[in-house]
Amino acid sequence: MNISFSVKIPQNIRYGTGSLRFLEEEVKGRYKKVAVFTDSGVHKAGLTEEPVRWLKEGGCSVEVIKDIPAEPTCRQAQDVVERFLESGAELVVAVGGGSVMDVAKLASIAVQGEKVSDYVEQPLLGRKRVKSIMIPTTAGTGSEATPNSIVALPEQELKVGIVNSELVADTVILDGNMIRELPEGIAAATGMDALSHALECYTSNKANTFSNLFALEALKLIFGNIIEACRNRENIESKNKMLLAAFYGGVAIAASGTTAVHALSYPLGGKYHIAHGISNAMLLVPVMRFNRAACHKEFAEIYDAVCHGNARKEEEKSEWLISELSGIVKTLKIPDKLEVFGVGKEDLDQLVEAGMKVTRLLQNNKKAVTAEDTRRLYLELM
Ligand SMILES: NC(=O)c1ccc[n+]([C@@H]2O[C@H](COP(=O)([O-])OP(=O)(O)OC[C@H]3O[C@@H](n4cnc5c(N)ncnc54)[C@H](O)[C@@H]3O)[C@@H](O)[C@H]2O)c1
Ligand SMILES: [Zn+2]
Repeated sequence: MNISFSVKIPQNIRYGTGSLRFLEEEVKGRYKKVAVFTDSGVHKAGLTEEPVRWLKEGGCSVEVIKDIPAEPTCRQAQDVVERFLESGAELVVAVGGGSVMDVAKLASIAVQGEKVSDYVEQPLLGRKRVKSIMIPTTAGTGSEATPNSIVALPEQELKVGIVNSELVADTVILDGNMIRELPEGIAAATGMDALSHALECYTSNKANTFSNLFALEALKLIFGNIIEACRNRENIESKNKMLLAAFYGGVAIAASGTTAVHALSYPLGGKYHIAHGISNAMLLVPVMRFNRAACHKEFAEIYDAVCHGNARKEEEKSEWLISELSGIVKTLKIPDKLEVFGVGKEDLDQLVEAGMKVTRLLQNNKKAVTAEDTRRLYLELM
């Protein structure tokens, strides 16, 4: 059998409680001016203080851009990128969730004369101009590992992924202290996003031996830690493990690809502004139930890796997986109806049309997804 895949991942990974201090070593003698990207929620939570301190210890002057919008539009990302170019910073450090990291990655390839909208049109246009360091404050998106930046296009009511290996960060710092105070609802939604990444990548048509290593390890870490990490502020080790799992989920995306959960989630984010983690968490069980017949083998392998129970038959093992996922969704109080977000049956046609356009991800799904299937899947949430 021939196997072929390509992957580019960050070169330096600093992991564990207190690993923020490596920032000093990362910059000392190399950079004079550094830009720190963050958003108002992360800034108010005091999470930029320590990174800024270490950067200054490393001899850098620091400009903090602290108003990156959540789930940014292409235009909003462009505004931030322009401010970054004006700052003259030689390095970009993201302290935040996927929204902040995605914009920081775009800043790392930015140059006068190119616009973020150009990268939407021609994803491979950009070249890395400055190095980037990612410090995630959610254990979710895995953006710290991926070659993707996601921006919303409000005029098309869509979110799109710009995928270019030049966007891959240079250094990742995974420090459990950064998610210690994460509100339970955000921890739950973003943790479910990481779970979706790992599960979708493992069951993807693009799955391969390399991505499977990371997806399976992420699943072990997530099944063992997601509830504890969301609920227990003091359990810093389970938070570290969720950060590692989210990173591994990102590596799995870089080498494989997500499937129908993320495909059908895009319109819910683009048009109805449902947070990325929530829409994925809502779709996860319906889509995995739909996929079950095509994924018995993969589900059984996951069962063997994470459960170590007595089930023998593949069907029993895959049944366990679906019911375990439903249990996690319920325990974490993920909403199960779209009406909470003002989405009703009158929106169905548009949702189906938009969901079916995300062919980049739908084609990764082991079981082919028709428009009628998509309609039924959205209907399960109504
Ligand atoms: N590039 C990729 O590979 C990739 C993958 C998946 C998702 N995404 C994108 O990432 C974005 C979502 O990122 P996200 O789910 O991490 O959420 P986010 O970055 O949008 O943050 C959500 C909210 O949580 C707050 N927050 C974050 N960390 C906090 C902390 N430690 N304490 C208190 N509040 C905190 C933020 O202020 C914000 O209000 C979406 O735009 C999505 O499309 C990108
Ligand atoms: Zn995701």
